[in-house]
Order: sequence, then structure tokens, then C-alpha cells
Amino acid sequence: MLTAKEIRDSFKNFFESKGHHIVPSAPMVIKDDPTLMFTNAGMNQFKDIILGNHPAKYHRVADSQKCLRVSGKHNDLEEVGHDTYHHTMFEMLGNWSFGDYFKKEAINWAWEYLVEVLKLNPEHLYATVFEGSPEEGLSRDNEAASYWEQYLPKDHIINGNKHDNFWEMGDTGPCGPCSEIHIDLRPAEERAKISGRDLVNHDHPQVIEIWNLVFMQYNRKADGSLEPLPAKVIDTGMGFERLCMALQGKTSNYDTDVFQPMLKAIAAISGTEYGKDKQQDIAMRVIADHIRTIAFSITDGQLPSNAKAGYVIRRILRRAVRYGYTFLGQKQSFMYKLLPVLIDN
Ligand code: SER
Repeated sequence: MLTAKEIRDSFKNFFESKGHHIVPSAPMVIKDDPTLMFTNAGMNQFKDIILGNHPAKYHRVADSQKCLRVSGKHNDLEEVGHDTYHHTMFEMLGNWSFGDYFKKEAINWAWEYLVEVLKLNPEHLYATVFEGSPEEGLSRDNEAASYWEQYLPKDHIINGNKHDNFWEMGDTGPCGPCSEIHIDLRPAEERAKISGRDLVNHDHPQVIEIWNLVFMQYNRKADGSLEPLPAKVIDTGMGFERLCMALQGKTSNYDTDVFQPMLKAIAAISGTEYGKDKQQDIAMRVIADHIRTIAFSITDGQLPSNAKAGYVIRRILRRAVRYGYTFLGQKQSFMYKLLPVLIDN
């Protein structure tokens, strides 16, 4: 079984072999963009290149980016802990083309990586394509669909609406139609009863999106209109923790080696076990998730405070502490005790 570290490395190696320059993650805290408080997608650090304000030093890049989805347009906070596949902080594996390759290569390489390199079963994969939007004057993405048809039977290619298949960074900024890859991780008996096709984009914990390929072509202006970008851009983002779940044969991100050491540490300090009690499990997942967010945001330059981005972090810290006090018998500060485990991992 591949470890999380091996999976991350394999992604970078694959895209390096396709001519990409590997860059480090940008900080999770954003100080110079009034439209965002935190990095919510791998493309944020490239926003000025995408908009044509800065030249691209490399036309193909790839990375693993620390992202936080706790405010603004992309906010998953209330799901976290209650389900097994959303996080406040997560790692997004991404590859970009700035005016270089476009849909064809993005789709072919995504398929090659998942099926030929990682050996995921293609029968469990589905692709969604943008169905078009008359009010935006956009038609169905037949081009993306035609590339998927090389690999997938037609019933594994699903039309999606603007909500799911037109990705936007925020209320303004780079955007475009997207094609998502979903994976069905259910056991065979369940797959025989209900087709995965009917569960894509229906909040099923084992039929989930793993990779989003965005075909950036527009800048959404403050008046809501779409302006074409100076060059076409590929922006992909894959949920690293979800990919680890799929490759490690698990049904929860928290059962992977990304989270298991932390859950064991939380169990040890609270004298319980993960997997024994539903409410305690939620509390442990909340803490295992939130400790990452709090620690990484502090190291990236955002302390908890009483205003703006700092208040977002304070609320996440409070949420973790509250779950620890209410469900895990904690009576004193305990979050700091978990840091050595986070650092080790
Ligand atoms: N920007 C897209 C996303 O966040 C793909 O990277 O899903």
C-alpha cells in the first residue's frame, strides 16, 4: 500500500515527467488580495498570471497546495467532523498550464495518472462535463466530453450545471467550465444495487469527487459579466486526502495514514478509542482536522484574534476545544499536546 507521502511524491514525479516545474505550496494565509482571506484553491497563487497581470516564469507547473475552505464562496466548516471527507485545511494536488496545453492533455494526463500509474479501476470512475448555461451564453462542453469518450462509456459521463461544473474562485476573478472526476468506492453488492452514476454529486460519502479539471477562460467582473482571459489556462485540483482514501482501500479520509496517528494521540489523551462511539468519533475527527488548520495558519502568519482572518482561526480553535470539552472529557488546555504528533507527520 502506498503511503500518503509516496502518493504525494508520485503526483509530483508524474507531472515533472510531463514537463512541469514543481513549485512549493504558497502560504495558506493571504495578505495581498482583498477578495480572499485564505488560500481556497491551488490556483490562488497564480491569479495574477492567469489574469495576464504578470508573465509566467514557467508555463507548466504542479504542486501540492495547503488550502483552507472556511469562509467566503468555498466554506465546508459545518460538515467537518460530521462527515468523513470534508476538511477545513486540505492539500490540493494541482497542475497548471498558462497558455500552453489545454483540455486534451489535461484530461489525457489525469486519466493516465489515475488509471495507468495509480491503477485505480476505471469502472469506478465517472467524469462530469459542463452542460452549458443559456443565461451566460455558454454551450455544453462537447470538447471535454469527446476526450472522456476515449476512456469512459457514455453512462459514466454526466452533464453538470453551473453550480457543479463552472468553477469560480470567488465573486470575482478567474473562472471557467470544469470537468470533475468522481470515484465510487462502495463495495460490489452496493454498486450492483444502485449505479454510481445516480450518486455522483449527491453527498454520498463513498461516491465522491476526487479531481477537478478547470478550463479557465474568463474573468468574472464585479458587474457579473465574463471577460475572456488573455490566454487559456488549465487549473486542476485533486483532493489529496481523498486520493489517499481511495488508494489505501479506506472508506474515510480519517482512516488513512494522514489522520490515523493524530486520532491515536487524541484517543490516548482522552482515554478512549476511535470507532467506539459515534459522538466521540465526530469530536475526534473535528480535533484531528482543526489542529492542522490552526497550526498551519499560525506558522503561515495568522494568529487567532478578534477580527477578520484571525477571528476565523479563533472560531476554528474554539470549535475544536468545545468538542474536546463536551465529548472527550477535557477540562484543561489540550490542543498543544497534539502538536508533536502533527509535526512528526
Ligand atoms: N480551482 C479548482 C478547484 O479548486 C481546481 O483546482 O477545484
